[in-house]
Amino acid sequence: MKVLLVGNGGREHAIAWRLVQDASIQVICVPGNGGTATLPRCQNLPLTQDDFEGIARFCTVNNVALVVVGPEIPLAAGITDFLQRKNIKVFGPSQAGAQIEASKAWAKDLMQAANIPTAKSAVFTDLPSARAYVETEGAPIVIKADGLAAGKGVTVAMTGNEAIAALEGCFSGLFGAAGEQVVIEECLIGEEVSVLAVTDGETIIPLLPAQDHKRIGEGDTGENTGGMGVYAPAPIATPEIMAQVQTQVLEPAIAELKRRGIQYCGILYAGLMISPTGNLNVIEFNCRFGDPETQAILPLLETPLHEIMLACVEGRLSTFGPLTWKSDVSACVVAASGGYPGAYKKGLAITGIAEAEAQDSLVFHAGTYQKKDVLVTDGGRVLGVGAIAPTFDAAFSKAYAAIESIQFDGLYYRRDIGHRVRSGS
Ligand SMILES: Nc1ncnc2c1ncn2[C@@H]1O[C@H](COP(=O)(O)OP(=O)(O)O)[C@@H](O)[C@H]1O
Ligand SMILES: [Mg+2]
Repeated sequence: MKVLLVGNGGREHAIAWRLVQDASIQVICVPGNGGTATLPRCQNLPLTQDDFEGIARFCTVNNVALVVVGPEIPLAAGITDFLQRKNIKVFGPSQAGAQIEASKAWAKDLMQAANIPTAKSAVFTDLPSARAYVETEGAPIVIKADGLAAGKGVTVAMTGNEAIAALEGCFSGLFGAAGEQVVIEECLIGEEVSVLAVTDGETIIPLLPAQDHKRIGEGDTGENTGGMGVYAPAPIATPEIMAQVQTQVLEPAIAELKRRGIQYCGILYAGLMISPTGNLNVIEFNCRFGDPETQAILPLLETPLHEIMLACVEGRLSTFGPLTWKSDVSACVVAASGGYPGAYKKGLAITGIAEAEAQDSLVFHAGTYQKKDVLVTDGGRVLGVGAIAPTFDAAFSKAYAAIESIQFDGLYYRRDIGHRVRSGS
């Protein structure tokens, strides 16, 4: 069975890696990266993610059974609708469903309509009224560009001036059309956790909860990034919390989507804040697998991934049965380019991956490129180095030992990933 996978990040390497564990699966990555290039039964296809026509043609000519869409941008641009019109099966929501991520104002409206717990907020389309709201509410306060901004559109402002500067950025076009509308939100405190669920638009099955580390600096300081490291299952999401997520977040969200005429198929990802007293609020929804959460979650999944995806696409998740998981835990540390999330260099030679993999680790490529026989850096987040083990201490020891074998100029990683679950930290 052929699966075409759209994307080129660490998430897509992890998805492809998990899919090809089943010998019956062949994966074609569009465009893939240096990691997917070397997986068995996996090839990279040099089409761009926005070439829906080219992707459709390839699928039809080559009898592709399933398309899996990794990133949010093609989903928000309607890749699913386009391919479905050509009778191609797609794991990933329609353009209408992808609004849950592509417009934070739309998602907030959906949450309010469905009575899903979330921070108090208001939406603005001009600077004077947004500024007046900030002045009334006071800091800390959170300013969010409405649209897709590659993880750079949110400012958690500790002062009024910072909030106003963020508003000025949005309304002066810093994020293009994504910042023409701004959501201003009450600042929540607590611990974040990501709960990803698979759904066919009726049945919803959560995956193991994961905890990412958004900030660039140790001690969770500095700028926000796409994610610097992750572990799963996150103990903060106790069985009680997971039950609440199911009944207070996922089920009402899918029901409200359905009420709006959207049969949502794919991953529904809830980014949650758990307060010190155990209250749960939704920070945002995403319409796809998390990156880097996927790199920690999939190594623990025993149920064949393609079978889960096909059950979603074919609308038979209700009869699919529970997912099975390894009893181990999983850790993943991101190796980034020096300077990230600001400016960084590309094209630097990477060495030591084979040595890292020989230490029972999983090296997922996030931003790499196979340039003839040299693997070079090709992004801000370059690699995700993961390991599974019976305990978090053991999993992180393995991941950190492995990452130390890897070199490229300016390599940076946080040494404190998993500080909440490792002993002595
Ligand atoms: N209301 C909030 N209170 C506190 N922190 C928040 C709030 N909203 C977002 N954040 C912080 O900002 C990060 C990014 O916000 P999010 O809404 O997830 O946007 P995106 O992932 O699209 O950048 C979150 O992971 C969280 O750390
Ligand atoms: Mg987020």
